[in-house]
Amino acid sequence: MEKSYQYYNQLFKGLELPLAFLDLDLLNNNIKEITKRANHGTIRIASKSIRCRYVLKHILESNPIFKGIMTFMPNEAIWLLENGFDDLLMGYPTVNKNALDAFCKATKKGKRIIPMVDDIEHLEIIQSIAKKQKIIQPICIDIDMSSDFPGIHFGVYRSPINNINKFKYLIDQLKNYPNLHLEGLMGYEAQIAGIGTNDPYMGFKNYAVKVMRNLSIIELAKRRKECIEYARKKGFALPLINGGGTGSIESTLAENYITEVTVGSGFYSPSLFDYYENFKHQPAVGFACEIIRKPKKNMFTVMGGGYIASGGIGLSKQPTPFLPKGFSLIQNEGCGEVQTPITYNGKEKLSIGDTILFRHAKAGELCERFNTLHIVSDGKIVETTTTFRGEGKCFV
Ligand SMILES: Cc1ncc(COP(=O)(O)O)c(C=O)c1O
Repeated sequence: MEKSYQYYNQLFKGLELPLAFLDLDLLNNNIKEITKRANHGTIRIASKSIRCRYVLKHILESNPIFKGIMTFMPNEAIWLLENGFDDLLMGYPTVNKNALDAFCKATKKGKRIIPMVDDIEHLEIIQSIAKKQKIIQPICIDIDMSSDFPGIHFGVYRSPINNINKFKYLIDQLKNYPNLHLEGLMGYEAQIAGIGTNDPYMGFKNYAVKVMRNLSIIELAKRRKECIEYARKKGFALPLINGGGTGSIESTLAENYITEVTVGSGFYSPSLFDYYENFKHQPAVGFACEIIRKPKKNMFTVMGGGYIASGGIGLSKQPTPFLPKGFSLIQNEGCGEVQTPITYNGKEKLSIGDTILFRHAKAGELCERFNTLHIVSDGKIVETTTTFRGEGKCFV
């Protein structure tokens, strides 16, 4: 499925560089693969990993297994509602009172927008707004899905609700918040969904991650089940049990209680998602830069490139020179603020003005660097669409 250098080089000739592109044929292939991996399970789309309305709509319309969006910022959720999207689950708590006020107004109008909570303080704020508006606001509790092994916190720090007793306490408090209704539970197992075990930058650590990953999957399934059973015993039907991410579609859906998995990154498949053993999606999104000089033999400098991914600092967070094959970044310089020198040992005859293609390490973040995505399909640029940023929406 992967395309050749010349395929893209011809398409981008004469366009202003750098530019970001989406290969629609590869995206459609990823959608098919993700659908297969989900095996009839329901998938909610993580908008933070997409950040483009055109793409959100395209995925939602592609197959009925894609239902709803996991939003990342409160103002983003409101904006998506205004633009016709519905069934929004906030992936993270918010204490933005104006936004929560807008959420409650949307609920009153019959929209499905569910804020995330993991603390009494969240309950207090939403309760006071929902009470003023005389509505019952659905909420979702975020359960921590990390595992602690001797000397290692395996996972990320998110919700403080990391054991059944803390969960029971929060559930038992809900009777004091009559304008809130517990609609669902969410737990994001980042250490399984977001870390591959075939990462060339990790060496032997891959093996340790694999062992911990298998132990963690068992522990988390048990934690999630205990929480669900307790909440149901207390009278909450919980029609929404959300878990996982791109890297954990299979293991999350294997838990019988799960009603949906969130997926975002797998659609674009950035370089950090190359390191999984059980799937390989296609590099559907990338950016193209122009060669502007040749500092020496076998070295070219392109304009742009310094789009480093968030998270713990490491070489794997750099963009990857992708096509033509044979480029490597120079460790001392990495990807530069304005320009990026790269060494070349490939076969193409390249000169000033030619295009070099890169991939970002993460998915949606690239869209914060570009106003538009050039949509490529069947040898043509079929459309140029705006990213969130291109619509003047820089949410975070
Ligand atoms: C709450 C939550 N669910 C799911 C995901 C998975 O998203 P992706 O498929 O982009 O890895 C994330 C990503 O950080 C997340 O924060």
